[in-house]
Amino acid sequence: MSQSDSRPIGLFDSGVGGLSVLNATRLALPGENLIYLGDTARVPYGTKSSLSITRYAEQALKALLRYDIKTLVVACNTAAAAALDALQASYPELHIIGVIDPGARAAVNVTRTGKIGVIATESTVNNQAYQKAILSLMPDANVKSAGCSLFVALAEEGWHEGELVEAIVKRSLSGLFDHYRDSDDYPDTLVLGCTHFPALKTAISRVVGDSVSLVDSAVTTAAVVKKQLTDRGMLNPGSDGYVRFLVTDGPERFARVAPRFYSETIEAEQVELIDIQHFV
Ligand code: DGL
Repeated sequence: MSQSDSRPIGLFDSGVGGLSVLNATRLALPGENLIYLGDTARVPYGTKSSLSITRYAEQALKALLRYDIKTLVVACNTAAAAALDALQASYPELHIIGVIDPGARAAVNVTRTGKIGVIATESTVNNQAYQKAILSLMPDANVKSAGCSLFVALAEEGWHEGELVEAIVKRSLSGLFDHYRDSDDYPDTLVLGCTHFPALKTAISRVVGDSVSLVDSAVTTAAVVKKQLTDRGMLNPGSDGYVRFLVTDGPERFARVAPRFYSETIEAEQVELIDIQHFV
């Protein structure tokens, strides 16, 4: 095994939300070269079938292979939930990391009572991806999930706080929290199982209360990427990595919405438009 690898890491998401994972990866690994692909032509994935999402994820992977990536980070909870196993089975030689396992692991480390709530898109909830991952680590955990696809639009529009946002959050989370208030089943941990949800962290925390720990899978995924590249001797020897942005539609909108999820400035001219739908 070589002791360093200057090839880029590919990160893939359905759109802009995965920039939260890119942000965390950039902070954890400033020396790595990163290529981010947002499938903005087909976002949102969260309301689509697993069959379609798997096809889209395979096309994204094939597009990123053209950039000679050393690792693929599936930076989209919905895509990881629906397609990670299929991608790993089809490309056993490629190092692929999803956001679900790191998030599940963090939740298990944080919970004291084993009562864990998960909020995610409709598709991720239907796939029970977090449920399975958490139960495989903590078989007696009590995991309840709720679909909150509406939060995706709120996060992209910049509606992150305030009365109206809290009212929507309260209603969306009532099945997980209100129903269990004053009962032993009230969760002590909530997994934000969607790239967009950390943007609503303040509003969510106000609704569920300070006693509930919020788990953000972006940060935990970046830590796993760092550990695995280190263990495999695959870190880039350089200290100042580049970031390249690819989208399948609307570079201008991507650059405009990006600051909600990413702390560095992205100009529309930096964002390359590519077609991935021809990959079969
Ligand atoms: N990136 C998706 C996720 O993390 C949310 C947006 C979508 O529905 O495509 O689940």
